[in-house]
Amino acid sequence: MLTPAVARAARAAPKHVRALATVADSKPQQLKEFSIYRWNPDKPAEKPYLQKYSIDMNKCGPMVLDAILKIKNELDPTLTFRRSCREGICGSCAMNIDGVNTLACLKRIEKDSKDVKIYPLPHMYVIKDLVPDMTQFYKQYKSIQPYLQAEKPADGREHLQSKEDRLKLDGMYECILCACCSTSCPSYWWNQDQYLGPAVLMQAYRWVADSRDTQTAARLEKLANPFSLYRCHTIFNCTKTCPKGLNPAQSIARLKQAMAQA
Ligand code: SF4
Ligand code: FES
Repeated sequence: MLTPAVARAARAAPKHVRALATVADSKPQQLKEFSIYRWNPDKPAEKPYLQKYSIDMNKCGPMVLDAILKIKNELDPTLTFRRSCREGICGSCAMNIDGVNTLACLKRIEKDSKDVKIYPLPHMYVIKDLVPDMTQFYKQYKSIQPYLQAEKPADGREHLQSKEDRLKLDGMYECILCACCSTSCPSYWWNQDQYLGPAVLMQAYRWVADSRDTQTAARLEKLANPFSLYRCHTIFNCTKTCPKGLNPAQSIARLKQAMAQA
C-alpha cells in the first residue's frame, strides 16, 4: 500500500517511471532470516548470542554482504563487521556463513526458506560481533619476511625473471590473506601460537619459489622446527575452503619437498 506522499510522487513522475514503480510495489515480500553472532566488549558480562533479522529479498542485493550492509544501514547500526572492496579483493569480509569460512561479498544468499547463520572466523579472539582479532595472523605473516630479498640488479633497475619462472608463482601471488583457510584448519586452531597455518605457509613458499630471491636457504632454515611447518597434517580443509580457489595444501607439500631437498 502506497503512502499518500509516495502516491503523489508517483503520479507526478514521468509515465515510464510510474510503470516501474508499480511493478516493484506489487511484488509480494520475500522474507529471509539472518541469524548473526553478536558480542559487545563494552558489556563483557553479557554472553555472545545470535540475533535474528528479517529482510525482504526483493529489496536487497544478491550477496550476504548486501544483506548485512542493509541490516546495518536500515535496521541496526550497532552491527559490526569489516568490509571494503565488495568484490573479493581486500579479504576483509571473511566470516563463517552457514558453517563455511568464506567472503561475504562473494557468497550468494540461497533462495530457500532456511535462515542464514553468520559467525566470525572460527577459533579467533573476537573484537566485536563479526570482527576477529587478526594480530597473530599478521604477526606470523610478517615473520616469513614476505618481500623480495636480492642483491641490486645488474642494470640497477629491474630483477629480471623468465616467463617459466614467473609462472611458478601463479596460484600463490593471488592470495588476498583473508585467513579463511587458516581458520578452517584444526591444526591451526590448536597450535596457532606456533604453527604458521596454510595462508602464511603458502606465502612462505611463494618466496622460496621465486627465482629472483636469494634467501631460500635462510627462509627454509627458519621453518626447520617441529611446529612452524610440520604441524600441517594434510587435513586439506584449507584447499576445500579457499574462496579464491587457491590450493594452499599443494604449496605446503612443495615446501616440505624443498625442506627435504635442502
Ligand atoms: S589461500 Fe585463499 S583462503 Fe587462504 S588466505 Fe589466501 S585467499 Fe584466503
Ligand atoms: S569486501 Fe573485500 S573481499 Fe569482501
